[in-house]
Amino acid sequence: MPLPYALIRPLLFSLDPEAAHGLTLRGLRLLHQTGLSRLYAHPRVHDPVQLLGLSFPNRIGLAAGLDKNGEAIDALAAMGFGFIEVGTVTPRAQPGNAKPRMFRLPQAQALINRMGFNNAGLDAFLHHVRRSRRELPLGLNIGKNASTPMEQALDDYAAGLRAVYAHADYVAINVSSPNTQGLRALQTDAALEALLTGLATEREQLAQAQGKRVPLMVKVAPDLQPEQIAALADALMRHGIDGVIATNTTIARDAVAGLPHADEAGGLSGAPVREQSTRVIAQLRARLGPGYPIIGVGGILQAGDAVEKIQAGANLVQLYTGLIYQGPELVSRCAQALARMTKPH
Ligand code: FNR
Repeated sequence: MPLPYALIRPLLFSLDPEAAHGLTLRGLRLLHQTGLSRLYAHPRVHDPVQLLGLSFPNRIGLAAGLDKNGEAIDALAAMGFGFIEVGTVTPRAQPGNAKPRMFRLPQAQALINRMGFNNAGLDAFLHHVRRSRRELPLGLNIGKNASTPMEQALDDYAAGLRAVYAHADYVAINVSSPNTQGLRALQTDAALEALLTGLATEREQLAQAQGKRVPLMVKVAPDLQPEQIAALADALMRHGIDGVIATNTTIARDAVAGLPHADEAGGLSGAPVREQSTRVIAQLRARLGPGYPIIGVGGILQAGDAVEKIQAGANLVQLYTGLIYQGPELVSRCAQALARMTKPH
């Protein structure tokens, strides 16, 4: 029997958020390695779907950023997910922003983070990925180093794509973190064109050389205007990008105004981003048409929120902040709700 998260949460919430995060990841790995994963594991809900040429046991995924270095893939898989995304990884290791850089807003079931792609770099990342058991579809999320000038952003993404290609079930291109200066400009206009042109070319070469076509997904921000979303959707289709992940964290603060930490710089996640993220999913679906793969993410704190994202047009969903507030039980609760959606009584 897994320990109820309600017992563990007060202890974790008594610690600094980043310390609690590190402790949890190390703890999960240790429990998994020592055969004690039953203390937190939940059975995987069987509700299979096919998407991107992959078989997903259910539609609930882990969002990027919780396991930036891919260190705990198998331990996290035991929570009952249908797929796992790890990263964001940058070509070279980098420390990220100064601490503190992660804040809880419990009244709003939210987090603000300005981690800034702290990660151990591609070599360490791939070392961990190679050692994982690969029981679930695995997305590898790539980004650019803070020290790489924006004009050379493509070099970092191309290096990331080349390195992770052979090991990924899909590759997520993260152009939507608010914590790397200039990054979100890659979602619009000439910068987007150049990036997608470059990555599509790179992918064709890799597909030829390795004999497999790994799907490319682009992860977008919730703060785009409707006309930017339309232009982005058109560009994704034009360049043969296989899917979109919507959304990353928001820079908006209206929903948390006045709460402690609300004015910290960074990206806001959790309940306050839910509506905006769902709106972006609906806009993307309307523009992209029925067949185009969309992964919905942002503010799933209870099962009904996952249902809402699917109804808005997502094929799969992911969560991060919900895990911090609700624990691993949330994964199977969401997966069950979605399974019931497809099989009406
Ligand atoms: C994130 N997120 C994120 N996304 C990404 O593509 N690369 C990353 O490295 C990170 N890092 C990260 C760190 C922290 C502390 C948080 C809270 C979030 C964004 C995450 O994957 C997700 O898109 C948003 O958090 C919205 O979903 P939730 O958290 O509301 O379920």
